[in-house]
Amino acid sequence: MSDRWYEKAVVYCLDIDTFADSNGDGVGDIRGLIGRLDYLARLGVTCLWLNPIHPTPNRDDGYDVQDFYNVDPRFGNLGDFAELLHQAGNRGIKVIIDLVVNHTSDQHPWFQSARSSADSPYRDWYVWSDTQPADRHQGMVFPGEQNETWTYDRTAKQWYYHRFYKFQPDLNIKNPQVREEIKKICAFWLQLGVAGFRMDAVPFIIEETEPGNPNSPKDLAFLTDLRQHIQWRKGDAVLLAEANVEPDQLKHFFGDGGGSSNRIHMLFDFMLNGRLMLALARHDPEQIIDALRDTPALPDGGQWATFLRNHDEVDLSRLTAEQRNDVFAEFGPDEDMQLYGRGIRRRLAPMLGGDRRRIELAYALQFSLRGTPVLRYGEEIGMGDDLSQEGRDAIRTPMQWSSLPNAGFSTAAPKDLVRPVVSDPEYGYETVNVTLQRHDPTSLLSWFERMIRTLREAPEVGSGTCRHVDVPVPPGVLVHRADDTTGTMVFIHNLGPDEGVVDLSSLEPEAQFPNDILADREYPDLGKLDALPIAGYGYRWVRLCRKP
Ligand code: NOJ
Repeated sequence: MSDRWYEKAVVYCLDIDTFADSNGDGVGDIRGLIGRLDYLARLGVTCLWLNPIHPTPNRDDGYDVQDFYNVDPRFGNLGDFAELLHQAGNRGIKVIIDLVVNHTSDQHPWFQSARSSADSPYRDWYVWSDTQPADRHQGMVFPGEQNETWTYDRTAKQWYYHRFYKFQPDLNIKNPQVREEIKKICAFWLQLGVAGFRMDAVPFIIEETEPGNPNSPKDLAFLTDLRQHIQWRKGDAVLLAEANVEPDQLKHFFGDGGGSSNRIHMLFDFMLNGRLMLALARHDPEQIIDALRDTPALPDGGQWATFLRNHDEVDLSRLTAEQRNDVFAEFGPDEDMQLYGRGIRRRLAPMLGGDRRRIELAYALQFSLRGTPVLRYGEEIGMGDDLSQEGRDAIRTPMQWSSLPNAGFSTAAPKDLVRPVVSDPEYGYETVNVTLQRHDPTSLLSWFERMIRTLREAPEVGSGTCRHVDVPVPPGVLVHRADDTTGTMVFIHNLGPDEGVVDLSSLEPEAQFPNDILADREYPDLGKLDALPIAGYGYRWVRLCRKP
């Protein structure tokens, strides 16, 4: 792969603690993950994104870091981590880790020192106010679970700022020492061999918080600085960022306006995610067509990361209230399935009623649209959720490897598991697991393997230009194309339940031996392109032409 490896990657995101437990203590660990690398290689994964791996009091699934220079002892030690990097590298898999530097845990020694005395060298590493800030109850990310962004600390006798939970005090980015420390953390892990970082909460990292000002200035130049730093340390290292901001702000996160990206390489496409969910809910591709049309031009080297589900709730906050209600009605009708008034805390398979056709359709769409696909562990076998777990934990249950006790995830007593395995009749581990699906050519897992292999043969997908093709189609059908120097692919996806016929005759002059390279079923050989049948919830990936 070239140094732009991230444009061709298939990223797989997992929590070490729920993936595979090698020592029987009920918590997944690095050795367990190493034992499953062959599985990931066979699936076609080329990049692992590990949710936070650091020591943590674990009050926000590890997003409350207590020591940036170590791994959580529950997972193993740095030696195990170095071995993971080596073993993954042997299989052509790169590893990126979560970089959570907007805040620390309140148990981090920096904060403990900072709060203990106004003279602490770490006092200014956090954001304080002598008086109660007027915006104390504004800007909460987790409404319902969090009711303020400024909390009074009795030991410090000041108010401290926390964009997220109150046990996650924000670091003070205005302090040059904090900036240097962030760079040092990056350098440390790059030196160990990670391929880059998934940067958590980027718009908040660069927020130069002023008490009382809910719209404090943002120092985007820090991102330029950080990018330069990591690129000098490791030329092909990548920043993949979470920046769920207004669409017109996104370009500033990719770069400072020059022709090349000089800030974040890849941004999660939250806008597309919400619109995809709406399109699937309404059986209507209009929102995807709009998204393709509205996509801002990216600077050279900038890339989207597409996803259907991640470790958080489906975030519908960028939709209108009416649109959001349509998605809720279809995919999360019960209040218990919803979160923070804006999201859905379910996995995709149950959201789609377990309908195999719709599940394939959704992923075929995700993987064929522009951007690098990111998959969450367990999606490839159609895992379900456990709504009896609190909040976002509903979708953070152990990976279902087999029908053995605890889904083959761990040999511990069930009461000692980090979280219970899903065991309901429909999505429970005895029905949905890797072992059952591994050798079954008709399984969802086998389908994912085929689909990812197909993607490998179609380099224009993801990194080439991606456009809507305006041709006569029945309701519910989307046609789009991907072009690159390697050739052209055309995709037909039917978001509706009824079969139909698509007329691609206007593409005939470009076509050389067009053929289906992936489809929901056997279709008659492509002859003339003026009447192509497409099944309800069907999809066809057609190679139109290949360039030498
Ligand atoms: C965004 C992460 O995706 C989420 O899981 C976490 O709770 C917050 N950032 C706080 O770090």
